[in-house]
Amino acid sequence: MHLSFCETVQIPWLSSSFVPAMAMRSLLSRKTLTSVLLSGPKSMGLGLTAAQSHRSLQTFTLPDLSYDYGALEPAISGEIMLLHHQKHHQTYITNYNKALEQLHDAMEKGDSSTVVKLQSAIKFNGGGHVNHSIFWKNLTPIREGGGEPPKGSLGWAIDTHFGSLEALIHKMNAEGAALQGSGWVWLGLDKELKRLVVETTANQDPLVTKGPSLVPLVGIDVWEHAYYLQYKNVRPDYLKNIWKVINWKYASEVYEKESS
Ligand SMILES: [Fe+2]
Repeated sequence: MHLSFCETVQIPWLSSSFVPAMAMRSLLSRKTLTSVLLSGPKSMGLGLTAAQSHRSLQTFTLPDLSYDYGALEPAISGEIMLLHHQKHHQTYITNYNKALEQLHDAMEKGDSSTVVKLQSAIKFNGGGHVNHSIFWKNLTPIREGGGEPPKGSLGWAIDTHFGSLEALIHKMNAEGAALQGSGWVWLGLDKELKRLVVETTANQDPLVTKGPSLVPLVGIDVWEHAYYLQYKNVRPDYLKNIWKVINWKYASEVYEKESS
């Protein structure tokens, strides 16, 4: 069943009136909605209560990139981008969806042990999906403004907190190069303290694991899969070149929205 953005659907036994599709989507996943439509009101038991018990069953799909895989060359090769997007990110999504389905089943059965056991898989794979979804937006081809320094309030905030954009890049490169194993280096906004921060996270931990008021502006993937095919073991060269394709316009938009 496909619902367009402004479409409405009618389920007489669920509601006496038309329900906006967007609201319905937030209440029921596509999969659940289909099963509810097929099974009808009797199997719903208490109707909305039964529907609400399915709210967690939502699956995720690989987001499209707004540029071609080869468009970030020579900073990042097309081969890396294709594998990184289609294989690595897709694998996080596949395993995230699988873990969420298992979580849904465990919760329905009241199996607390399994619910707890699934948390690490959800954090790792869900974090991988969250982080990579941001990462693709953090990049843009040079011909579309990649590497152009931030203007407006973010540029001013960077100068205030770090001295200059060059100083910020130096700090993030140093912390990214020093990060042991796999992880991410972030420029974030602390919404509570109203200041910019540089943080690193291990594995696929999202920035929010370092503080609930932290919002990611720029996240750089320092897993080997992000650079090894092109830069081999020289992570600092990857970090030096990635700034040529950083989308500061996107970071500025997030900063302005989150700091207002
Ligand atoms: Fe990655």
